[in-house]
Amino acid sequence: MTTTPQDPAFALPKALLKDRQVFFAGAATRTIDEEPTPTISLRSTVKTFGFGDTVFQALDGIDLEIQRGEFVAIMGPSGCGKTTLLNILGLLDKPSAGEYFLNSKSVAKLSAARKARIRGREVGFIFQNFNLIPTLNVLDNVALPLTYQRGLKFNNLEKASKILKTFDLQNREYYLPNQLSGGQTQRVAIARALINNPSIILADEPTGNLDSKNSEIIMDELTRLHRAGNTILMVTHNPDLLSYASRVIHMKDGQIDRDIELTDTAAYKATTSFISQRKKQRSRRFRNGRLRRQKEGEKK
Ligand SMILES: Nc1ncnc2c1ncn2[C@@H]1O[C@H](COP(=O)(O)OP(=O)(O)OP(=O)(O)O)[C@@H](O)[C@H]1O
Ligand SMILES: [Mg+2]
Repeated sequence: MTTTPQDPAFALPKALLKDRQVFFAGAATRTIDEEPTPTISLRSTVKTFGFGDTVFQALDGIDLEIQRGEFVAIMGPSGCGKTTLLNILGLLDKPSAGEYFLNSKSVAKLSAARKARIRGREVGFIFQNFNLIPTLNVLDNVALPLTYQRGLKFNNLEKASKILKTFDLQNREYYLPNQLSGGQTQRVAIARALINNPSIILADEPTGNLDSKNSEIIMDELTRLHRAGNTILMVTHNPDLLSYASRVIHMKDGQIDRDIELTDTAAYKATTSFISQRKKQRSRRFRNGRLRRQKEGEKK
């Protein structure tokens, strides 16, 4: 017996369903007894840069599975491949070899337009170097993902203004990026990454330049998003931030060196609760489907 990815068990958190197409509809079917399909699945992923003698292997055969609703911290020394990994996961870059399945779909088989749509709707990217557009003010920078998706609309700016308030930036809306402090720039970049209600948040050292008060604002926001059922991957050099995560992956020389579940954290409890809820929903639907089919069979 098979279930399809249209099951509620696969559904996005309710808060995120508005204005959203479930892009994995039609993905491969699977049996009810299997573990839930991971949101992210990388198999033997390699990324090389350069040509000939200057070739450099930034990722050296990564196997990684991440379930929907995990909060994964990624740690490791500078140059070990953390940003390269996030770029591939966020569909900003392609692996040189190996496979990437996102919500059961092979990313290599998606058209460029489809990838752009998924990136726009599903993925929130907080870049290590912010990537704000220098000629746009803060409000327009934050509204940009919405503008890409649905064109220029006043409503986009209203939404951007609302999220800027969350990050205590309401009085910086008309500043240009070069008029902001490092911490403010970082908070603007985070507001922009979250404006689309992404279900997968890829954060490359989101608190790298922030003092402890501002770090807390960001981490509280990521925790709120995690508790709403979203998947978070966060690169960090700060071991104190592991208390917010459900799992930590240590990278070394382009490989996963250690992969540890952080069973003592609140994030771990939240993650296991999402996964068991989804399993229960799936088996309830499976049972109901079987009963319905039995009844239909009896009627015939
Ligand atoms: N576009 C590129 N061309 C050539 N080499 C690259 C490119 N991007 C990354 N690299 C190399 O790949 C390796 C991994 O880079 P990456 O940015 O993923 O490291 P990182 O773990 O994020 O480091 P950091 O903690 O300093 O941000 C580095 O040695 C880097 O020089
Ligand atoms: Mg990096």
